[in-house]
Amino acid sequence: MPSTAKRLRFFTESVIREMTRVANTYDAINLSQGFPDADPPPEVLAAAQKAMADGPHQYAVTWGAPGFRDALIRKQRRWMGLDLDADAHVVVTCGSTEAMMTAMMTACNPGDKVIIFSPFYENYGADTILSGAEPIYVPLRPPDFDFDPDELRAAFLQKPKALVLCNPSNPSGKVFTIGELEIIADLAKEYDAFVITDEVYEHIVYPPHRHHYIAALPEMFERTISCSSLSKTYNMTGWRLGYVIASEAVIAGARKVHDFLTVGAAAPLQEAAVTALDLPLDYYDRLTADYIRKRDLFLSYLDDAGLAYTQPQGAYYVMVDCSEFGVTDDIAFCRWMAKTVGVAAVPGSSFFHEPVNHLVRLHFSRAEPILTEAGERLKRLKPLLHSHSVTG
Ligand SMILES: Cc1ncc(COP(=O)(O)O)c(C=O)c1O
Repeated sequence: MPSTAKRLRFFTESVIREMTRVANTYDAINLSQGFPDADPPPEVLAAAQKAMADGPHQYAVTWGAPGFRDALIRKQRRWMGLDLDADAHVVVTCGSTEAMMTAMMTACNPGDKVIIFSPFYENYGADTILSGAEPIYVPLRPPDFDFDPDELRAAFLQKPKALVLCNPSNPSGKVFTIGELEIIADLAKEYDAFVITDEVYEHIVYPPHRHHYIAALPEMFERTISCSSLSKTYNMTGWRLGYVIASEAVIAGARKVHDFLTVGAAAPLQEAAVTALDLPLDYYDRLTADYIRKRDLFLSYLDDAGLAYTQPQGAYYVMVDCSEFGVTDDIAFCRWMAKTVGVAAVPGSSFFHEPVNHLVRLHFSRAEPILTEAGERLKRLKPLLHSHSVTG
């Protein structure tokens, strides 16, 4: 029998989705795979029913239905503060996942180097391998997840083609300050590299932190490939709607890659999502308020449970430090926790390039009663740890 491609050896199946299977095995509350419990807004669901009844049902324009692109650009002009053109500057993709893959394949030749901050969202490792690029990891050091500008410059000295910027960041919850973005932007300009962003959490940011788009910094639009999606902002991770926003020259390439990867995102869902993109500003205020409530509720339980964590600035994840329990094998610890405490988390090591084994990631985009139950269970973690072995 012929063997499968060698590139498959260099990455594993998703650890996050594996932890969902572990959660199901032990009937644990799943705080591992991060998708919202909430549904899309009712008016968006009504628009989806109408689109299913009335169409369109055939292929849309491959780089995005014109109505969707117009609505997206109306919205993003407001948030990004850029004079974007719906015909020249956007490709609609199947989620940010495809947007990132499209961006990587558009920007990189095989053998090119790409800077990735570690910890990182697991797709970026696979994206670099599948596009033939080679990652250079720059640490974001816990607990604050800051980077050392000298380490970043040393990475740029290796002449990377691009840097991947997840902002707000999964898993760390970091929101890059304008000062940090300026350091990255200056290095990208000095060393002539692209910045490929993943901004799926752009609307989940906890004040006083603010999301800044690196594409909007001076002279950065031409070298930034901005990727994002509707998944998290409108509770529609299953709709698979995302996009790349970039200069006309980059978009010309990205359209080709996207066309041959997926042809296009679902036509009736693009039609329905126009209603989401046209939601008034107070929708985003309510989204923030909801997440502040969930975050405060969940963190109060972590405080009661006596667990150390890094306060998230954005997104809906919290990294909990388990070193005081003597945890050195976070994978065994997460299995034990799912089985014995009834809460499933993701082992932190799956996000780090460096050997970091004392952190676990929990997400709090679940409904409040579920977060409350998970919090109650986590309060039993310390006493249970004293009477069980971690792998027991
Ligand atoms: C940082 C980050 N990027 C991308 C995705 C996937 O986004 P999409 O549903 O748009 O493909 C996720 C999902 O958890 C994520 O956390």
